[in-house]
Amino acid sequence: MDRISHHVYLSKCTRCEITCREAETSVTIAAIGGSLRAGSYSRALLRAAARELPPDVRLTIWDGLERVPPFNEDLEVGPAPEGVAELRRQIADADGVLIATPEYNGSIPGQLKNALDWASRPRGAAVLEGKPAAALSASPSPRGAARALADLRKVLTVIGAGLIETELAVPQVHTQVTPGGRVADPVLRDRIRQLITGLAQHATAASPALAA
Ligand code: FNR
Repeated sequence: MDRISHHVYLSKCTRCEITCREAETSVTIAAIGGSLRAGSYSRALLRAAARELPPDVRLTIWDGLERVPPFNEDLEVGPAPEGVAELRRQIADADGVLIATPEYNGSIPGQLKNALDWASRPRGAAVLEGKPAAALSASPSPRGAARALADLRKVLTVIGAGLIETELAVPQVHTQVTPGGRVADPVLRDRIRQLITGLAQHATAASPALAA
């Protein structure tokens, strides 16, 4: 398979059985947006991150948040619900996770907290424990995004994710990014690039296979 067709194949089938030097050496990032809204600005920022990837880094934006049922400890015995299994697989298969949260009432939305709660279990073997992670937040308000980012950081820290120090809060986000993830401001583009590059570097250092 030549280089171009191989890239096309891998981008269509991220969990294919094919292994090759490129597949072994590229860093995979699972991106999770905390909004269910079709026109979500926080998801648009994930698309912006996908435009700023360093070489050999692949990012997949997961769209399954709505399929994750409300957390219930009674459901922890037996197989995980399908949406939860999908969420855990996305995180487990990735070298790092990038999480973008909107701000709802000064915090993160319930559906995102719910998914993080599922991904924090079972304690001691949770997919998020030790997983390289980066956080960003967005709000159309001039004073928004900071409180949601602080809460996202708190939750990920309690879970034990390998959160990098670099983070990003984007107020007035509706003036900053197009639905397709285009950012005109070079300063914001640079901050997005720093965030994704920092996460990729941490993921590389944390993975013996990638660091080798
Ligand atoms: C909001 N919004 C909001 N914004 C903010 O800066 N601080 C806040 O506390 C809140 N609270 C809040 C509560 C609820 C229930 C909703 C629905 C909205 C506005 C919110 O940040 C805005 O709608 C974003 O555009 C939502 O993110 P997405 O969907 O664009 O990613």
